[in-house]
Amino acid sequence: MTKTPLRPEWFCGVDVAPSIYAADFSKLGAQLVSLLEAGARIFHFDVGDGQFIEDITIGPVVLRSIAPLIHERHGVIGCHLMVAEPERQFAHLKAAGADSVSFHLEACADPAAAIQLARALGLSVGVAFNPETPVEKAAAAAESGDFALCMSIHPGLSGQSFLPDACGRIRRLRKLLPSGIIEVDGGIHHANIAAVRRAGADLLVAGSAIFWGDAPGTAYRQLRARVEERREAVTEPREP
Ligand code: DX5
Ligand code: ZN
Repeated sequence: MTKTPLRPEWFCGVDVAPSIYAADFSKLGAQLVSLLEAGARIFHFDVGDGQFIEDITIGPVVLRSIAPLIHERHGVIGCHLMVAEPERQFAHLKAAGADSVSFHLEACADPAAAIQLARALGLSVGVAFNPETPVEKAAAAAESGDFALCMSIHPGLSGQSFLPDACGRIRRLRKLLPSGIIEVDGGIHHANIAAVRRAGADLLVAGSAIFWGDAPGTAYRQLRARVEERREAVTEPREP
């Protein structure tokens, strides 16, 4: 029997989630305001510890300073934990303003306990997984969470290329989680966003495609407009 997944109240339908990691941190507040004014509501916040991934990214100190600005404009913040022993960070991130956490299956000894802990803290919780992790294993773990986060790059840095087999993995995940929320992270830009959506993504994370140009708000709006674009409107290889 297919379980009815819990739809977290912050998820109001397909959307683009700006990945703050790619921001210009000398103008972070202004960039976030321009995104909120352009209609962005779900913000993706990458926490990396230099252990699970090589890179040290951003953490509770930055989160605490931006959370009021996002929350007062009715936005939400999802923390993507690319860290070892992710459960240890849940309470700190909640206290700093996180609305959801996603932890990597590869970094977590007891995913069911991690899901329970996040919920007990009042967080929505997702299961993230790397390109090498079998989709079936990820789907089985994600079923008891609120969403799945499928990596379409190797976790680490913004600005990498979308992996060629990612759409196939998203399609397989969608078959396994027919009505679950699927977030996809890495290498999404204007030329592939519609294909990623068609493969089954609900929440499309975009870092460099939003922040590495002149106007994050405009870039968000353009990506948002392309999400539901019909196949004929974009130039891309045929899907198998
Ligand atoms: C990197 C992070 C991503 C990153 C995405 O591993 O998890 O969220 O910021 O950036 P782009 O969209 O540039 O790949
Ligand atoms: Zn991320």
